[in-house]
Amino acid sequence: MKNVRLSIATIMTAILTSAACADAGAAPTSLGAGVYSKEQAEIGKAVFSQNCSSCHNADYYKTVLQTWRGQPMTYLFEQVMSAMPADKPGALLETEYEDAFAYIFEMVGFPAGETRLEYANGMMDDISLEPAP
Ligand code: HEC
Repeated sequence: MKNVRLSIATIMTAILTSAACADAGAAPTSLGAGVYSKEQAEIGKAVFSQNCSSCHNADYYKTVLQTWRGQPMTYLFEQVMSAMPADKPGALLETEYEDAFAYIFEMVGFPAGETRLEYANGMMDDISLEPAP
C-alpha cells in the first residue's frame, strides 16, 4: 500500500514538473538545440554592428564561450547587460541585448530554432553555455 502511494506521488511530481516546463516554454538546455530565432538574429545583427562590432569579433565570442562553458547563460547575460557596451554600459534595451546575443550565437555557428531568446521568461537559466561548434 505504501508503495502504491509513493508511485502516485511520483507520477504527480512528474506531471507537475512537465507542466512547469511547458509554462516556461520548454526551454532547450543546449545552445546546439536552437535557442534563438532566425528573425531575431537578423534584428540582432543591426544592434551588434551599431553597438558591439567596433570592439569584438566572432573570435572574441568564441573565447568567451570557451571561458564560460558550463555556466548558465543568465550569468553572462546579466554581466553583459550591466557592463556592455564598455563605452556606455547598460545603454541598450533588454530586447536589444537579447537580439545581439541571438546574432552572436548565429555568428559563432549555433543553429537557429523556433523561439526567441529571452531574459525575462527565465529560459536563460536553463541554457548551459558551451564552446562554439
Ligand atoms: C568600446 C569597446 C566595447 C564595446 C563597444 C563593447 N564591448 Fe564588450 N567588452 C569590452 C571590453 C574592454 C571587455 C573586457 C575584455 C576582457 O576582459 O577580455 C568586454 C567584454 C565583453 C564580454 C565578455 C564578458 C565576460 O565577463 O567574459 C562580452 C560577452 C561582451 N563584451 C559583449 C559585448 C556586447 C554584446 C556588446 C554590444 C552590446 C559589447 N560587448 C560592446 C569592450 C567593448
